Amino acid sequence: MNYNDVRENAKKNIGDLCKVCKNCNGIACRGLLPGPGGIGTGSGFTRSYEYLSKIKVNMDTFYEYSEIDTSYEIFGHTFRLPVFTGPVGGVKLHYGDKYNDLTYSKELIDGCKEGGILPFTGDTIDEDSFIGTLEAVKEVGGFGIPTIKPWSFDEAMRKVKLAEKASNFAIAMDIDAAGLFFLTGLGKPVQPMSVDQIRKIANSTKLPFILKGIMTVKGALKAKEAGVDGIIVSNHGGRVLDHTPAPYEVLGDIVDAVGDDMYVFVDGGIRTGLDIFKAIALGADAVLIGRPFAISVYGGAKEGVSLYIDKLADEFKSALVMTGAKNIKEITKDKLYNNGEI
Ligand SMILES: Cc1cc2nc3c(=O)[nH]c(=O)nc-3n(C[C@H](O)[C@H](O)[C@H](O)COP(=O)(O)O)c2cc1C
Repeated sequence: MNYNDVRENAKKNIGDLCKVCKNCNGIACRGLLPGPGGIGTGSGFTRSYEYLSKIKVNMDTFYEYSEIDTSYEIFGHTFRLPVFTGPVGGVKLHYGDKYNDLTYSKELIDGCKEGGILPFTGDTIDEDSFIGTLEAVKEVGGFGIPTIKPWSFDEAMRKVKLAEKASNFAIAMDIDAAGLFFLTGLGKPVQPMSVDQIRKIANSTKLPFILKGIMTVKGALKAKEAGVDGIIVSNHGGRVLDHTPAPYEVLGDIVDAVGDDMYVFVDGGIRTGLDIFKAIALGADAVLIGRPFAISVYGGAKEGVSLYIDKLADEFKSALVMTGAKNIKEITKDKLYNNGEI
């Protein structure tokens, strides 16, 4: 199997809502939620993809060559790439019956372990799937970052305790999932959280705590006040609010405000190794990739996942070679044309 086979298989295996487009850019699935699309006009998804595609890269092969190192160190471990999988929950609803959250997570986690990157795993309404996913994380040496939704404060605290027993690395919360109003219709509402509540939740675990869904400097400063270890600059793939900026438009100011105090990750529309390069050059420590991993699982299970990671690794290494960066510390803003301004 190669990655093209994975994509062809995915077309057969995935539900009607995802078209497995050549360019996964949010156009064919605009407004499809449930489904993989962005909410409303879908602009939060399409804008991220377009913004990244417009950033230009400075070519430079005029240097003495030495071995290129694409590895990324975090949480006391070294990973193959500065990439995590974005949490994707409710797969049956969004991508069809071939997988449920538990069987999906197992393939994803195994594929990531094989490929050498760490997965964020998702949270769902269904308790059995959440517990099963934690078991899957535990089985492979705690290899995963469980991401909990902002249910009620007490429910979030309960789930953090369960997640802590499974993960060896960190726990996250997608605070922006407060915008997933369809969960209310399914009987389990989500809600915004205060700085004080996030502080208590973060302090309740010994593991690093990461907050996902920060899109303003104000939000990043609140995350700092709450004492979290990292944030993910993300608009949830454009799924929680229409007409947000692309995360890459707000990333620089957020890094300037809190980048020395915590990890700053970013996601939205990253598809290739060159996209990873651009996001890091704009100031991110590492990136998350969501939808393409769902396509990889539906098209090739754990092998599909590791093949996609191989593809990203090849492309990322090429980006470093072609821009004169020997490792990820050397991926600086000046590697981008006009410092990445578009
Ligand atoms: C079908 C679907 C389900 C998702 N479920 C979750 C989730 O449970 N928790 C979460 O934090 N983010 C969730 N996300 C958002 C992703 O983690 C990620 O932030 C977003 O998709 C942007 O990245 P992408 O363009 O690479 O997909 C989901 C996204 C999709 C498309």
